[in-house]
Amino acid sequence: MAALAETLRDKIRSRRARTGVVGLGYVGLPLAVEFGKAGFHATGIDLDARKVQAINDGRSYIPDVPTADVQALGAKGLLDATTDFSIVRDLDTINICVPTPLRKTKDPDMSYIVSAVEGIAKHLHPGMLIVLESTTYPGTTDEVVQPMLEATGLKAGQDFFLAFSPERVDPGNPTFQTHNVPKVVGGYTTACSQLAAELYGSAIETIVPVSSTRVAEMVKLLENTFRAVNIGLVNELALMCDRMNINVWEVVDAAKTKPFGFMAFYPGPGLGGHCIPIDPFYLSWKAKQTGFDPRFIELAGHINGGMPHYVVDKVSEALNTRRKAVNGSNILVAGVAYKRDIDDMRESPAMDVMGLLLARGANIAYADPWVPEVHAREWSGGYDIKAVDMTRGNIAKYDCVVIVTDHKAFDYQALVEEADVIVDTRNAIKDPHPNVFKLGAPRGASEDRKAVIV
Ligand SMILES: NC(=O)c1ccc[n+]([C@@H]2O[C@H](COP(=O)([O-])OP(=O)(O)OC[C@H]3O[C@@H](n4cnc5c(N)ncnc54)[C@H](O)[C@@H]3O)[C@@H](O)[C@H]2O)c1
Repeated sequence: MAALAETLRDKIRSRRARTGVVGLGYVGLPLAVEFGKAGFHATGIDLDARKVQAINDGRSYIPDVPTADVQALGAKGLLDATTDFSIVRDLDTINICVPTPLRKTKDPDMSYIVSAVEGIAKHLHPGMLIVLESTTYPGTTDEVVQPMLEATGLKAGQDFFLAFSPERVDPGNPTFQTHNVPKVVGGYTTACSQLAAELYGSAIETIVPVSSTRVAEMVKLLENTFRAVNIGLVNELALMCDRMNINVWEVVDAAKTKPFGFMAFYPGPGLGGHCIPIDPFYLSWKAKQTGFDPRFIELAGHINGGMPHYVVDKVSEALNTRRKAVNGSNILVAGVAYKRDIDDMRESPAMDVMGLLLARGANIAYADPWVPEVHAREWSGGYDIKAVDMTRGNIAKYDCVVIVTDHKAFDYQALVEEADVIVDTRNAIKDPHPNVFKLGAPRGASEDRKAVIV
């Protein structure tokens, strides 16, 4: 065992180790590129032949990864991709970055991890390091991955090395990217931890070793549950503020001037993305198996899940001031990606907002410079629909504009000047305006509303 560990350590230090990344998505491609930049030969394995082709052609399809990087690494022979798992025979290390979605029942869908590990197990050989990065419940690495790999006859910590290291990438974040976000690493044994830390330490600035794979798995779920719960809290505060005629955005901005003991979270139209709406349910599923009732997670899920309905109520309230109904109104949804300045639509609350408005009889259009089209399968009851341009002439055509994602590219001044009614779920329009109905805040001019309340 010591000899195998030493050999792999030497290969990593000398960059002779051949690295592999399974799953070339938002997480896997940036990681493979970092390994390439660190001087390793990196091979991506993905079932999606189009992604594999793109990498081999020197093209990036992930906005945070410049095509120039993929091209340069490809030209140096440091980055390539394949759909064929038999390449595992030639690899020394593998990082698994496949999706971990929820089933409709909110149970973990482990099928992607299982299929990736099956592919690896067929070609596993002594001395390899396997690291799972996909966000998952505590126990996945030693209860699911380890037995599958050990069914080959090789033993974890002895014949091969096994670790979990959560990915923390924040797509679209210009400051923090794969190489400068500290990397938590937990191995099955100390040697496993050390080798995983050695590998990541070659490409990532700060490594944070923890005592086990389960601790590392739980770290990621704490981080994301922390966000889900705090967003749930501030969303509930927004609902309260709406009733109490208080501007929740002003409250949060003032509260965050406290230099200690407070962290600002903002309300919004609902949770989106592959992580925050999903990961806490991985934890609650596992906790329930031990007879533990994870109340915070369920409550936050309930409040956050209700936000698209609240947005639709706001639209109805806004149209009501114009003596219009949602039914038959032309509504423009501004922004459908799950957050600002990215193209990722996964779990986007815009899909719920659009589906709910459609169900109430609205005619839906959307604008989003990052998302040229939305497919029928992505929104309930919906159809294939293409983005419209948010030109002044276009804006004026709609009875109501709902800002669901506050992309920087939108011309908010033009919106305020041209739209009859705006529902702003992101506080994108800072100055009060009589036509702007903000989530968690009194109506723009607020004087008429005060008069009613008094
Ligand atoms: N996107 C994020 O911001 C983010 C941040 C932190 C953690 N994560 C976690 O990282 C993991 C990956 O997320 P992502 O956003 O990169 O997903 P993604 O959907 O962008 O990419 C996953 C890739 O895996 C491929 N794939 C699926 N099954 C495969 C298999 N059996 N073999 C080979 N390839 C396979 C898919 O074709 C796809 O290209 C998830 O667990 C996610 O929760 C994501």
